[in-house]
Amino acid sequence: MKKLSLLVALIGACTLISTAQAQTPQNPIVIKFSHVVATDTPKGKAAEFFKKLAEERTQGRVKVEVYANSALYKDKEEMEALQLGAVQMLAPSLAKFGPLGVKEFEVFDVPYILEDYTALHKVTTGPAGAKLLALLEPKGILGLGYWDNGFKVMSANRPIKKPEDMKGLKVRIQSSKVLDAQMRALKALPQVMAFSEVYQALQTGVVDGTENPPSNMYTQKMHEVQKYATVTNHGYLGYAVIVNKKFWEGLPPDIRGILEQAMKESTEYNNEIAKKDNDDAVEAIRASGRTEIYMPTDAERKAWIAALKPVHNEVASRIGKQVLDDFYKATER
Ligand code: LMR
Repeated sequence: MKKLSLLVALIGACTLISTAQAQTPQNPIVIKFSHVVATDTPKGKAAEFFKKLAEERTQGRVKVEVYANSALYKDKEEMEALQLGAVQMLAPSLAKFGPLGVKEFEVFDVPYILEDYTALHKVTTGPAGAKLLALLEPKGILGLGYWDNGFKVMSANRPIKKPEDMKGLKVRIQSSKVLDAQMRALKALPQVMAFSEVYQALQTGVVDGTENPPSNMYTQKMHEVQKYATVTNHGYLGYAVIVNKKFWEGLPPDIRGILEQAMKESTEYNNEIAKKDNDDAVEAIRASGRTEIYMPTDAERKAWIAALKPVHNEVASRIGKQVLDDFYKATER
């Protein structure tokens, strides 16, 4: 009995010591934050901003290690790593939650469902966005917020002004069934591929084209291997910042509070710079002289919208009619 209580006391003391140690600059709590884009993108900059705030405000009791450009994990692997606790924080694009079994997020991929950033924020800062994040909890994941990126351009090595021009093109997409349906509606041939492999696939002709927000296209140098890009703005690509739930809830409450505030400010920062970063990237691509940027006429834009309209009905049963309706309602359609 005496031995047992000694053991319990010892375990208790060790736990206290390790918690205390975990909160010193010598032995900090480490948050591995993995992502797949360049540092010079809205997500890349916001991840660094979060690191700075978190480390300064916890006075080194937390260390944030940011791994950009798929340096640690590629798209699919990083989701698994988060669930296993090998990384603690990610910001995957909303198109990448399907393979995790949360296909409702693919609503963000529905073509022309979000007109602009104003419509986007009605969803991401309102109940429709919160409802989606809550779906992650049973997977052991907490959604901390939405980080914007931008509206997508279509690119290829031949001009694509009208929807018909997509016919027969092999096009890289993210792992979203809605994006697959979108490309099929355009009679293109969608190919799912990790982000880190796209540049080479375009360069070697494994695929003919792709879709991206301009900031991703430019920072991955895809404009060097694509001759034409059309600013169709046909779809949105952005992120949810997610953490391993067990890890987050196990943090000392004072530290968690500081990190929550740092995340709130990092989200504001990200969402302030995203539009300008993408506008600047269009100009940078144009200035490079490598890719010809095409702005569709009003009539052409209407043709893209009409060609992609059937996708809404086609994917309704996959993502859920209610989820779609929540989006239509939030954006006042
Ligand atoms: C993609 O795979 O195209 C994007 O999700 C990459 C990113 O994180 O922006």
